[in-house]
Amino acid sequence: MSDRITLLATAAMGLESVVANEIKALGYHDVQVENGKVIFEADIQAIPRCNLWLRTADRVKVIVGEFHATTFDELFEQTKSLPWERFITEDGVFPVNGKSVKSKLFSVSDCQAIVKKAIVERLKQRYGIASRMPESGAFYRVEVALLKDKATLTIDTSGSGLHKRGYRTAQGEAPLKETLAAALVQLTNWKPDYPLVDLFCGSGTIVIEAALIGQNIAPGFNRSFASEEWVWISQDQWTEAFDEAEGLANYDQPLSITGSDIDPKMIEISKNNAMEAGLADLITWKQMQATDFYPRETNGYLISNPPYGERIGDKKEVEAIYQSLGQIMKNHPSWSSYLLTSNEKFETLYGTKATKRRKLFNGFIKVDYYQYFGKRI
Ligand SMILES: C[S@@+](CC[C@H](N)C(=O)[O-])C[C@H]1O[C@@H](n2cnc3c(N)ncnc32)[C@H](O)[C@@H]1O
Repeated sequence: MSDRITLLATAAMGLESVVANEIKALGYHDVQVENGKVIFEADIQAIPRCNLWLRTADRVKVIVGEFHATTFDELFEQTKSLPWERFITEDGVFPVNGKSVKSKLFSVSDCQAIVKKAIVERLKQRYGIASRMPESGAFYRVEVALLKDKATLTIDTSGSGLHKRGYRTAQGEAPLKETLAAALVQLTNWKPDYPLVDLFCGSGTIVIEAALIGQNIAPGFNRSFASEEWVWISQDQWTEAFDEAEGLANYDQPLSITGSDIDPKMIEISKNNAMEAGLADLITWKQMQATDFYPRETNGYLISNPPYGERIGDKKEVEAIYQSLGQIMKNHPSWSSYLLTSNEKFETLYGTKATKRRKLFNGFIKVDYYQYFGKRI
C-alpha cells in the first residue's frame, strides 16, 4: 500500500487552529483548516503518532474519498469505486455511521445503508467472496458525512474519542472534556517552570492536562486505539511511535501545579485521577474556598473553569465569587488569569476588561475564555 494518506482530525468548534498547530508541531505542515476539522496529508506513521500526541483533537480519521452526490445512485456508484480493500481486510467489521447537513441526501439511515451495501459489493468483488462477508476481524468504523452535497467517506482510527485518556476514574458534576482542558492550557503562554493554579479544579482535568503538557507526556500513552488492530499499520510502526513518546517524555521537569476546590470529595477524586495518570506526586491538592487564594509566588498562571451559576439560586453566589477573585488578582499583577465561563457579565463582575477573549463551546454551552495577561517581574 502506498504510504501517503489523507487524514482528518476532528476538532470542537473554536479549537480548529489549536488542533492545526499541534499537527504542524508533529511535522505535518500541509494542513487545511475547516469548520470542526483539520485535513492533512501524511504518511501512515502519522496515525500512531497523531493518536498518541494530539491533545486537543477529538478523533483522527482516514479519508477514503470525497465526491459530489445528490442521488442515491451517485452515492452508491462513487462509494463502490473507492479503494476500500486498501483499508478494510476480508474479515473486517465495518459499521457505517452518517450525518447530513444542507444536502439533498438528507436521510442519514438511507445513506448509511447505501454506503454499507456499496462497500460490501466492492470488497466481495476484490476478495472473491460469494457468500456473506464474515465481519469477524478488526474494527473499522466508517462514516459518510454529507455537507452541501459533498460526501466525505472516512474510517475512524482512534476508537474511543481521544479525550478518553484513561485516567479519569471518577468525575464531578460538570467536568471539562480533557481535550478542551488541554486547549485551555495551550492557549496560554504558560511554561513548565511557571506556577499554575486551578482554584475550581473539580475532577482535576486542567491541572492533570497541564502536568502532562509540562512533562511532555503523550496524552494517549495509557490507552489503545482501534487502528492498532489493522494489518496495514505494522506493530513496528506502533512500537516506534510509543518508543518516540517514551523518549520525549521529560519526567525530570519540575512543576509547580496546584489544584484546589471547595469540595473535599472533588479533591479525593482529583488525587485518584492524577494517580491513574501517573502524576501522583507532581500536583499539589488543596481543599480551599477560591476566594481565600493568596498567591505567594510571582509570574503565575490561574487557569480555571469556575461554576457558571446557570442553576437557579447559584447565580448570585457565583457572581460574588467572580467579584472577589477579580479583587484578589488585581493585587497580584504578575499573575496571568484565564477563566472560562458562560456568564456574559463576567468582565464587569471581575472588574477588568480581558486582554483577550475567545469564543468556545463547553459541550453545547457557549462560553468565553477571558484572558488577562500578567506583567512579568
Ligand atoms: C465547573 S466545575 C469544574 C470542573 C473541572 N474543570 C473538571 O474538569 O472537573 C466547578 C468546581 O468549582 C467548585 N467550586 C464551587 N464554588 C467554589 C468556591 N467558592 N471555591 C472553590 N471551589 C468552588 C465546585 O466544587 C466544582 O468542582
